[in-house]
Amino acid sequence: MSVLRKDFLWGGATAANQCEGAWNVDGKGVSVSDICTGGKFGKSKTITPILQEGTFYPSHEAIQHYYRFKEDIKLFAEMGFKVYRFSIAWTRIFANGDESEPNEAGLKHYDEVIDECLKYGIEPLITISHYEVPFGLTKKCNSWVSRDMIDYFLNYCRAIFTRYKGKVKYWLTFNEINSSSTPMGALLNQGILNDLENPTEFMKQPDYPQQRYQGLHHMFVASALAVKMAHEIDPEYKVGNMMIYSASYPLTCKPEDVLKNQQYNRILNYFCSDVQCRGEYPTYMNRFFDENGIAIEKAEGDDEILRNGTVDFYTFSYYMSSCQTADESVKSGEGNIIGGVPNPYLKASDWGWQIDPEGLRYSLNEIYDRYRLPIMVVENGLGAKDEIEDDGSINDDYRIDYLRKHIEQMKEAVKDGVDLMGYTPWGCIDLVSASTGEYAKRYGFIYVRRYDDGTGDFARLKKKSFYWYKDVISSNGEKL
Ligand code: BG6
Repeated sequence: MSVLRKDFLWGGATAANQCEGAWNVDGKGVSVSDICTGGKFGKSKTITPILQEGTFYPSHEAIQHYYRFKEDIKLFAEMGFKVYRFSIAWTRIFANGDESEPNEAGLKHYDEVIDECLKYGIEPLITISHYEVPFGLTKKCNSWVSRDMIDYFLNYCRAIFTRYKGKVKYWLTFNEINSSSTPMGALLNQGILNDLENPTEFMKQPDYPQQRYQGLHHMFVASALAVKMAHEIDPEYKVGNMMIYSASYPLTCKPEDVLKNQQYNRILNYFCSDVQCRGEYPTYMNRFFDENGIAIEKAEGDDEILRNGTVDFYTFSYYMSSCQTADESVKSGEGNIIGGVPNPYLKASDWGWQIDPEGLRYSLNEIYDRYRLPIMVVENGLGAKDEIEDDGSINDDYRIDYLRKHIEQMKEAVKDGVDLMGYTPWGCIDLVSASTGEYAKRYGFIYVRRYDDGTGDFARLKKKSFYWYKDVISSNGEKL
């Protein structure tokens, strides 16, 4: 008997800006990702508010999923996917973000994507906003800094909730909403950019926490109203939040380190989901706001909106863990947006992300204890370099090993009592990296023949992990 529930949602995840390409086709407008150049490990991407000729912009072509989605979804179906998590590019539906009528060509494209999934019995799981805020809104009102964004976002939600009614069941409002608890989320997640003329290195933008946290407040209100709207349009709709969750441990058992870790967990791992799952701001934030000179401006009725718009299920990305210490002389490590100090007991990936499968079990238990909501792991995986052998095979045993160990720990968590709905590993097909903007960091079961020097024909090749994952799915996680 399988440990996982019979209707467990096995699948994979992508985001429009990292896979579609066709960045200015069929009425699509410019998103904040479209103005970011490529980079690589150790070399930051650059934000160029004015596009530069002859510069490499990874989202402009990505992996051409816009044109090849039928071929890609067919491959997902061959692996046995039950769910496909993808995002709708907001700028395909509203090019600048502030139009009153949606773009029919954009809506039609996702009709086709959704129908293609349904043809194979694959449930679409749609992220409404995944690092794709219309740049038009950044220029107009500095995006989520402005309360006007709530209406623009709800207009977009209304257009897609009504159009895809009866075909889609699962929605996520904002990808990794808590990335805005760090400076890195300001542009990617929130569309905030204070200099609209000069290029800036991605990690060197001047940071204004007041803007980020006020922006988050507007996003919380927008998300809560979107949950309410979704339920009104179709009572069958289930709307989830989406967090970047990085398991975190005190570096030592010194009480100072334990307290530092608790504070990290509250601000990074729990603040946003406390609001979205419990429907109110946690009291611990008051001190944080006071000590950091942040004053959240709320409109009358916001508290009630938050209370009435809690999510139906909890989702998160999980790649790594880190440690916290009060000792400032200890150097931070690399990480998926959220840094921290390396754990001496763990090994890191080639990109410096510390691999910690047990941390996934720990995280699932912590989250479930806190919220008692059904949970889905909507991103997980190993970014690695893959080589094509002379015989054409791609033997990504390291990826299989990573995924196997994480699935084992998911099963342990289910035995511990967690209500786990599904699992969609990240970048089920190779795509462009969000943090570094490169092709070389691959996550997929499917290799895409495209390289950072602009060569490659976008052909799709099955890796060893493709066949492995197919068996995992058909045995409902028993054959690992
Ligand atoms: C998550 C994002 O942070 O991690 C994805 O939701 C991203 O968009 C993924 O691609 C992996 O990160 P990276 O930087 O390796 O692409």
